[in-house]
Amino acid sequence: MLKVGVLASGRGSNLEALLKQCANKKIAAQVVVVISDKAEAKALAKADEYNVPAFFIDPKVYSSKTEYNRALISKLKNFKVDLVVLAGYMRILDPLFIEAFPGKVINIHPSLLPAFPGLNAQGQALTGGVKYSGCTVHFVDEGMDTGPIIAQAVVPVLPEDTVEVLAQRILAEEHILLPKVVNWIAQGRVKLKGRQVVINI
Ligand code: GAR
Repeated sequence: MLKVGVLASGRGSNLEALLKQCANKKIAAQVVVVISDKAEAKALAKADEYNVPAFFIDPKVYSSKTEYNRALISKLKNFKVDLVVLAGYMRILDPLFIEAFPGKVINIHPSLLPAFPGLNAQGQALTGGVKYSGCTVHFVDEGMDTGPIIAQAVVPVLPEDTVEVLAQRILAEEHILLPKVVNWIAQGRVKLKGRQVVINI
């Protein structure tokens, strides 16, 4: 059983989608720990609902970003995680963190990367006038939303869309894509070859 640690800053709907699939034994993974950088993150309450240990690690109490990342690494290592999932985690990780979990950190992002990295990806898609957007699950590297792409799902962008409406349409796909990718990883079907990710279906 693949042991998953989740980092989340907010609402936690992607975390919940993952927790549900694990609880229903739809995927061969178990979320063993959830960590947030926000005390009020709903993701922490979601973890509680599923009896998963949940921790608020306050970046402000550490002297540097590196020290804060050391605290994250230490907590995740305590739970012996095999995979780290960033599910709405809104901070850039220190290179030290990526080195601690080589090829074992993935992120979900609400655009078709490499288009619209960073904040407000759905707003960027509307402003950019694209006809399609979607979501991407990718390996995390030192950059912002720049790591090798594992999988993507596409949705149309409609003329009358607001940011909220488009975000909701994308989110529905995120809730399917993220657990699917975690399951592929649990089954050992995801291989990284340079920048290319090969999925053995
Ligand atoms: C999701 O849309 C996720 O893709 C996005 O934050 C939202 C979190 O929602 N992540 C990013 O923008 C990261 N760059 P959730 O807390 O309900 O899962």
